Amino acid sequence: MRLTTPCHRFLGLALALTVPFAASARADDLPPPAKRKIEFSKDIQPLFAKHCVDCHGEQKKESGLRLDNRDEALNGGDSGPPWIEGKSADSLLIKYVGGLDPDVVMPPKGDRLTRTQIGLLRAWIDQGADWPKPKKSHRISR
Ligand code: HEC
Repeated sequence: MRLTTPCHRFLGLALALTVPFAASARADDLPPPAKRKIEFSKDIQPLFAKHCVDCHGEQKKESGLRLDNRDEALNGGDSGPPWIEGKSADSLLIKYVGGLDPDVVMPPKGDRLTRTQIGLLRAWIDQGADWPKPKKSHRISR
């Protein structure tokens, strides 16, 4: 039955090529999402502020993306929404911070995010990417 081996190999290759998105295999390399409830203002906002906002804020708006402001962030950047609620492994932001895209890694210079930080971002997205609206200041009227 030696003949079946190349045949199986070919089948394997054909299957691998027809799987639409190789990311499913590589997404396994991502750090797992944190297992606790994420709070945006404590867990995520400081991370964006420290590692992302220099380039994705009011001054610089690389690739059209801002991460300093809820409404702007939800509008996304030039490539569309940075995350898909509930699907961290399919989210552009996670691909970039997790190094799944060989061409683009975020942040592009300086220290990479730690596995713990990526796990927090993943859990936040998986839990619905809640970004509370800033409280409106109450206007006093007569
Ligand atoms: C030193 C500047 C810099 C920092 C810091 C930085 N980025 Fe970026 N970011 C860029 C540049 C430049 C691009 C465009 C890259 C490209 O398309 O080749 C980009 C693109 C992106 C995009 C794609 C936007 C789109 O719609 O095209 C995402 C998502 C992103 N960054 C997330 C982040 C996150 C999250 C952080 C923080 C962990 C971060 N970036 C930190 C410079 C930066």
